[in-house]
Amino acid sequence: MDFDPADVRPSVFYQQMIHCIVPRPIAWVSTISEDGVTNVAPFSYFTGVGSRPPTLLFCPANNRKGEPKDTLRNIQQTGDFVVNIVSFALAKQMNASAADVPSEESEFDACNLTQKSSLKVKAPRVGEAPVQFECTTRQILNIGDGPGGANIVIGNVVHVHIDDAVVGAKELVDPDQLDAVGRMGGLSYCRTRERFDLNRPGS
Ligand SMILES: Cc1cc2nc3c(=O)[nH]c(=O)nc-3n(C[C@H](O)[C@H](O)[C@H](O)COP(=O)(O)O)c2cc1C
Repeated sequence: MDFDPADVRPSVFYQQMIHCIVPRPIAWVSTISEDGVTNVAPFSYFTGVGSRPPTLLFCPANNRKGEPKDTLRNIQQTGDFVVNIVSFALAKQMNASAADVPSEESEFDACNLTQKSSLKVKAPRVGEAPVQFECTTRQILNIGDGPGGANIVIGNVVHVHIDDAVVGAKELVDPDQLDAVGRMGGLSYCRTRERFDLNRPGS
């Protein structure tokens, strides 16, 4: 099978992308609007960017009406956000937080999550999450307009919280304790329990 993306509908291209680019880490992004309504939603088009300066990115697409999702709108209004990492124990609440909740309602309440104040940003953290990255907005890039049009949000990581319970040898996060989940295609997820090591060439 091979195809030119220009010859298929965007929804078909999207489906192939999310089945091929796997597993994807999940940024569980918490924000607050200028009116003080808090929000949390998952985004699996997510990765780290660099460490000098400490940066990460995630990609909120426009909603079906072609408008920014609440997460992006809040970030445009307040200039900051928190990326929370999702452990297996939180997978159901993470999934529930992807529901289309009216802008004036908080997913923190709807999903029974603890809203914890951040140290350096206005956006709250998900208290239950084992890792929380407080971020200020570095840049927002618009990639496409209208429904499904993409945006890239690049954040400066200004503070990191790691639950001591997931810290292992050499002060680093222990993957078994973190028990992070990744997103596959369709409705599938994976856990991070099966791993293997490879020596770097020349080492
Ligand atoms: C695991 C998972 C990953 C998701 N990844 C993305 C993504 O990368 N980009 C996106 O625009 N929506 C993604 N979504 C859908 C959003 O979470 C959903 O549209 C949510 O309602 C947005 O919330 P908001 O309007 O409060 O910002 C994902 C949903 C799930 C369950």
